[in-house]
Amino acid sequence: MKTRITELFGIRYPIIQGGMHFVGFAELAAAVSNAGGLGIITGLTQRTPEDLAREIARCKAMTDKPFGVNLTFLPAVKPPDYPGYVRAIVDGGVKIVETAGNNPQKWLPPLHEAGVRIIHKCTSVRHALKAESIGCDAVSVDGFECGGHPGEDDVPNFILLPRAAEELKIPFVASGGMADGRSLVAALALGADGMNMGTRFLATKEAPVHQNVKDAIVAASELDTRLVMRPLRNTERVLNNAAAERLLEKEKSLGASVTFDDIFGEVAGVYPRIMQKGEMDAGVWSCGMVAGLIRDVPTCAELIERIMAEAREIITRRLPVMAT
Ligand SMILES: Cc1cc2nc3c(=O)[nH]c(=O)nc-3n(C[C@H](O)[C@H](O)[C@H](O)COP(=O)(O)O)c2cc1C
Repeated sequence: MKTRITELFGIRYPIIQGGMHFVGFAELAAAVSNAGGLGIITGLTQRTPEDLAREIARCKAMTDKPFGVNLTFLPAVKPPDYPGYVRAIVDGGVKIVETAGNNPQKWLPPLHEAGVRIIHKCTSVRHALKAESIGCDAVSVDGFECGGHPGEDDVPNFILLPRAAEELKIPFVASGGMADGRSLVAALALGADGMNMGTRFLATKEAPVHQNVKDAIVAASELDTRLVMRPLRNTERVLNNAAAERLLEKEKSLGASVTFDDIFGEVAGVYPRIMQKGEMDAGVWSCGMVAGLIRDVPTCAELIERIMAEAREIITRRLPVMAT
């Protein structure tokens, strides 16, 4: 399949695996890229720039296809060593970076000078336009359905994607709620040039996480996610569990006076315990509504081939009959 995104990134299929904390290790990124999509290593999961350099080298040993690195810019009292991470990316010869969170403008010159293409993930048309205006090469438009941080506007993809298509000149992919060939064709129909998936890639054989995490996604329905940290304007869509219930109870009882310190225990540093040890109630963890469409744990190649076969079937058989 040829779209502006496959051309921009030199990939076979317009399918991207979004950065995921304590999930996006070299094993998953390489498996997605080897299957014809674009795999992405999550930069900040690596504790230091040196660790990221080693992870990039490990990924290169597993694939000769393009892959990317996610850099998430979060407000922090003591910010991570972003210059060091950017150096590790450039020195490692990585040519694609997915940015997310705050405005990435400061980091574009060193990346662009090294020939790196930047796809910025955003949750609103105005942020997508801002990304375009500062020189990002593409954007990933994350609808309200998405796992992780959907922003505060609550606009689902059926509205957000055509709105983005109306306004943007640079290529963009649909993100949030994407799972199969139907999602891909719908994303293309709404004006996107491909799709980005998080939760769906988490439930694959190569995702280097505990089996309990994959089982929880397969068992979940579309009704099983919750929005936490709304009062802090740092909304996150997570799978419902004991930690989410504890957190929401605190938000309810403390009302507008709730602070990050009040919920620290449910959100800070919990990912290794959940993703690696499989302690499913250790804290809250990002998960999309799309869990309701996920019923198996295939390999990345099986998943991507299935998506493409289903998309071709819809485009070449189902739709032409209706159009005559
Ligand atoms: C477990 C998990 C962890 C995530 N961590 C990050 C992250 O560290 N940085 C980031 O930019 N996005 C992160 N995301 C968001 C994904 O990259 C992607 O945008 C989102 O999952 C798309 O929605 P979907 O889950 O409905 O496919 C995470 C998502 C999940 C499910």
